[in-house]
Order: sequence, then structure tokens, then C-alpha cells
Amino acid sequence: MLYIKVQKVCAEILRGNLIKRGFLSTEDKIIRDDSYIYLPLNEYARENIKSLSGEGLGMIELNKTASYRKPLPLDIGYDLFGNIAIIDAKRKMLNTEATRSAGRKIIALNPRVTTVLEKSGPVQGQFRIRKLGFVCGKRRFIAEYSENGARFVFDVRKVFFSARLAYERARIAALVKNGEIVAVPFAGVGPFPIVIAKRAKPSSIIAIELNKAAWAYMEKNIRLNKTSCIHAICGDFKAVADRHIGIADRVIMQMPTQSMDFIEPMLKIAKEKGKAHVYLFCNAKKVKCVKDGIRKELGSFGYRTKFIFERIVRTYSKAEVEMVFDISFSKVG
Ligand SMILES: C[S@@+](CC[C@H](N)C(=O)[O-])C[C@H]1O[C@@H](n2cnc3c(N)ncnc32)[C@H](O)[C@@H]1O
Repeated sequence: MLYIKVQKVCAEILRGNLIKRGFLSTEDKIIRDDSYIYLPLNEYARENIKSLSGEGLGMIELNKTASYRKPLPLDIGYDLFGNIAIIDAKRKMLNTEATRSAGRKIIALNPRVTTVLEKSGPVQGQFRIRKLGFVCGKRRFIAEYSENGARFVFDVRKVFFSARLAYERARIAALVKNGEIVAVPFAGVGPFPIVIAKRAKPSSIIAIELNKAAWAYMEKNIRLNKTSCIHAICGDFKAVADRHIGIADRVIMQMPTQSMDFIEPMLKIAKEKGKAHVYLFCNAKKVKCVKDGIRKELGSFGYRTKFIFERIVRTYSKAEVEMVFDISFSKVG
């Protein structure tokens, strides 16, 4: 686990800064000793920590605490899904002794990890899944993963799942007001609906997923977490929105490659006045253009848009980041 060690007097300011940047882990506990506070960081921080230390927060230093995750040899990054670790190695290192050695080290460093896999292709297709290669440990592909007080099981080969969205799920859950109806198209195995159901008090959540395998895991995860307000539908968002018109107070559009293609069903499923969280891949230097595009698209359906909040969710490639735009909209006239 990665922590930032900070003197007690500065801890509250730094904690606020970490929350603002989406760096604070919501899963791990804050640790205290006589003089210092150790603030837990999430995977997004792990990727972007250089920008944090470069922002004049001089009183902080990265520190190894008892559970600090030691760096691996060869600079290999990895994602953790409970019992499964997925290595993100450079192409020329795929299926080599170097990755197997890193895999054994990951198992030694992380007592929960029993299987190590490697990413052997990009996230692809409508279901947003990627090819994974076996590296070492048990040949088991069902992840048992926890975040934000919720538990999830899913087959990492058959569904999309990103642990890097954990902060976003907690952030959105904190915005949901009592009694709201929330629509979650692109729901995957259910992390957004389930975290919202556990942390907020919506009257109901309609969760839509096209991939049958992901939908079946969502049903399983709903039962596992004993969340009763989620209605999980297997189907295409466009078709489902046609059957559920004007019901949602809030729509969570977490399909960053295609969110803009689904603005019409988003407006159909929502009430005439509503809120949405639109995730998009974009060039970080062209945010104004992207916002103009969103405003124009909603305008073409007769809606006025107000931008409430935006943040970079994660870096996606050298040129692109995933951003989220929190908007409110209302039908004109
Ligand atoms: C980027 S993933 C998001 C998953 C989820 N929000 C999460 O946090 O894990 C997009 C999901 O949308 C699903 N999907 C793609 N096209 C869809 C459509 N037309 N209707 C409903 N779901 C769709 C994919 O199968 C995939 O699970």
C-alpha cells in the first residue's frame, strides 16, 4: 500500500488536497503515530504521484510504512483485483522470464494474491475487454475484490473492471440525494450501482449492461452485497431508454469511448431536469472544445446544460486523459 507521511499539523490540508485530486484511497485506513499521519493513496495516485510531489507540497514525503508495496524490478506496474494481479508489462516483455520473476515477487509481496496475469492486448470491442495471459500462481480467473465497503466477484477474462474508478464511485455515491432514481447504463458487473446503493439512499437504481456475462456477475454481486434497490437489465441502453422514459434524476455515463453517442438515450431516460456524469477520453488541452461539444449535443435535443464540476479521472495515453464532467440539464420551454 502506498501512503504519504505528513506531520500532524499539515495533515488536514493535505487530506483536502488529495481528495480534490482524487488521490486519497477510500479503501484503506489512515494510520497515525505520535508525530505523523499516513494518508493512504489509491491506484490513480500511484500513476500520477509525480505531479503531486511537484506541486509545492514540500512538507510531505513518500514513506514506506509496514504495508507499503515495494517497487518491482524492471519497473513493471500492476493492478490488483483482490486475489488476482494483472501486470502491465511492455510488449517485448510479454511471456518472458522477466514477467514470471516479477509475478512471483508480486505474490510474495501481496499475501492475498494467488494468481498473476498479464495484459496481452488493448481493451477492445463493445464489451471493453482485453486478452490476458497467464504468468504464475493458480490458474484461476475469478477475482474476489472489495472496495468502498462492497464486494465483487467477476471473471477478469470476460468483463470490464477498473479498480482505478474506486474513487469516482465513492465521489458519485456522495452526491446522490435521498430518494433519487439513478440510471447506470454501461454498468459492468455493478460497481457504480452497488457502491451507490451501499453508501447513499436512492429510491431505486436502474443498471443496464449489454454483456451477458457482466450482467450475470452484476446479479450475483447484487445478491452478495444484499442491495435491494437495484434493478439490473441485460440489454442495449438505447433500447432500454425507449422503454423507461423520463424516470431518472441522475444518469452515470461511464463509457468514455462512446458517451457522446448515447446523449439521446441519456436524455430520454432522465427527467426533464436532471444531472449526469459524462466520462470521456479527451486531450487534456482541449477541454473547452469538449465542453462546447457536450453543450451543443444537448442543445440539439432542446436542453440547456450547466457544468458543475470536472476532473481528470486517469491518464489514458500520452495524449489523452479520461475526464468526467458533472452536468445538470433542463429542457428548454
Ligand atoms: C467502460 S465499461 C464500464 C463498466 C462499469 N461502469 C465499471 O465501472 O466497471 C463499459 C460497459 O458498458 C457495456 N456496454 C457497451 N455498450 C453498451 C450498450 N449499448 N448498452 C449497455 N451497456 C453497454 C460494456 O459491456 C461494458 O461493460
